[in-house]
Amino acid sequence: MCGIVGYIGMKDAFPILIKGLKRLEYRGYDSAGVALLNSEGELNVYKSKGKVKNLEEYCIGKDVSGTIGIAHTRWATHGEPNDLNAHPHYSQSENIALIHNGIIENYLAIKKMLVREGYTFKSDTDTEVLVQAIEYIKKRYDLTLSEAVQRTLKFVIGAYAIGVIEKNKPDCLVAARKGSPLIVGIGEGEFFLGSDATPIIEYTSNVIYLNDEEVVLLQRNKKPVVKTLKDEDVHHDIIKIKLQLEDIEKGGYPHFMLKEIFEQSKSLAMCMNGRLNTELMEIKLSGITTNIERFRSAKRIIITACGTSWHAALIGKYLFEEFCKIPVDVEVASEFRYRSPVIHSDDILIPISQSGETADTLAAMELAKSHGAFIYGICNVVGSSIARGTDSGTYTHAGPEIGVASTKAFTTQVTVLIMMALQIGRELKTLPEARYKKIVRELANINTKIEECFELSKEIRKISSVFTYARNFMYLGRGYNFPVALEGALKLKEISYIHAEGYPAAEMKHGPIALIDEEMPVVVVSPKLKTYEKIVSNVQEIKARKGKIIAIVTKGDVDIKKMADFCIEIPDTEECLTPLLTVIPLQFLSYYIATVKGRNVDQPRNLAKSVTVE
Ligand code: F6R
Repeated sequence: MCGIVGYIGMKDAFPILIKGLKRLEYRGYDSAGVALLNSEGELNVYKSKGKVKNLEEYCIGKDVSGTIGIAHTRWATHGEPNDLNAHPHYSQSENIALIHNGIIENYLAIKKMLVREGYTFKSDTDTEVLVQAIEYIKKRYDLTLSEAVQRTLKFVIGAYAIGVIEKNKPDCLVAARKGSPLIVGIGEGEFFLGSDATPIIEYTSNVIYLNDEEVVLLQRNKKPVVKTLKDEDVHHDIIKIKLQLEDIEKGGYPHFMLKEIFEQSKSLAMCMNGRLNTELMEIKLSGITTNIERFRSAKRIIITACGTSWHAALIGKYLFEEFCKIPVDVEVASEFRYRSPVIHSDDILIPISQSGETADTLAAMELAKSHGAFIYGICNVVGSSIARGTDSGTYTHAGPEIGVASTKAFTTQVTVLIMMALQIGRELKTLPEARYKKIVRELANINTKIEECFELSKEIRKISSVFTYARNFMYLGRGYNFPVALEGALKLKEISYIHAEGYPAAEMKHGPIALIDEEMPVVVVSPKLKTYEKIVSNVQEIKARKGKIIAIVTKGDVDIKKMADFCIEIPDTEECLTPLLTVIPLQFLSYYIATVKGRNVDQPRNLAKSVTVE
């Protein structure tokens, strides 16, 4: 989604802003722009369709001086991606410039009012309406910029994170947020703005997180002044973020996605660190320990998420039902929030989100909260909106995920769900102690097996080159590996643009089997499980119809190996842990197919890393 960077201090703002925009490229965008106030107080805005490097080229020879500025990468919502619709937007008089993430829902009504007042518009965006409204209110009530922002936002319905600067006001950077993330970085007499921490951490690890409906005024060498829309003063403690620069760089890999695939053993180790005690062979998540009575009395768990996180949620259902004997519903957040779901106060809602900012998951969480459900979050980004809105939860600690296609977020989400189910199942005595111990022992050792899966990368790269002809793929799995089949199909779709479908293997006979012919590659996720014999029959059915079979099997497999065109062997493990291993070859498969096809793996077309709009 769109990215925000801002700077006010003593340094040249332009290089900081451009570098910041580059750090935000991973979020997905289609145009970029920058606004700067030079030493004469003139306000210069430059923008360009396409990548940040286009903007840089466009700025050559232009006045990019100034120690205060705002910059933006835009992922089009209202209006096509072009120079006009790109941010920053000027107000009518060109005295104010504004960048915006989010959507102003009542922008048409505000626009109508402004048109009546003689305002004209150059773009199709809701953002231009906002900056015009700020100028209108500022003039009409003779307000300062921050007062005008405060007053205008009272009338705004929707989500926003904004940065605003004004001509001839070199010591005033105003920002505000509601529903879209915004972080203020605090340096020595200087400040940074970021829609996440990545453009900031190079300069400072001290930040404050603004809350919804707060406006901040940043001036050099002064404390940030934070107020609510109702003009109440707000104090925020400064938080130290742990992110390191190397965490957000490629570290020698050609793509973030590949780096993050290979990081999975490290991220799982961080995820289990301090939670899985290898001496006692037991699991303790503090959020579960504190709230175990909630889980004991829960009539139902609802897990809600989007995309890859929803696939992890589906695995959660298998886990909680098997180990904790608690009924589980898994809900796509965007559907859940607009149904009339029946939610009780003894329900537990688990939102799962890497970014912690996904608009639909956030709204689903708020809906469940308003019905009195207990909210237990699983998020990666510390301090994100979802993480802050929960009653309790467990961070995945995967480290920053920059690749748009989610990899390490998925495996750490599944790991958190496994740990939760094991701890709850043990406390509730629904999981026999011997079985608990056996799985915990295996989980403690899973990283060695994940690293064995990394060694498959060369073999998978070769297999991938065979299938670049394919226009369609089918992915099949059963039980714990049905969601993995869905995840494999999603990975392929999003980065290679090949159509792919995931199915529970036995469902194939009910329709999809009609698609099988000698052109159709079918990826069968079939490690040794209790339904192994059944999946062998499914593979026979594909073979009989000449489908090309790529099978993910357990080392030493005999039956499927005989039939498959390509067989990828993973180490043996407990059935409930197999998704942590089976997904890795599927991540490699999609990565290599996409790179052979020359796709932009880290910035696939039309996609955004965190979907902060509906
Ligand atoms: C797929 C992918 C998306 C996200 C989805 C939810 O690779 O990354 O499907 O999983 O947009 O995002 P989060 O987990 O941030 O809520």
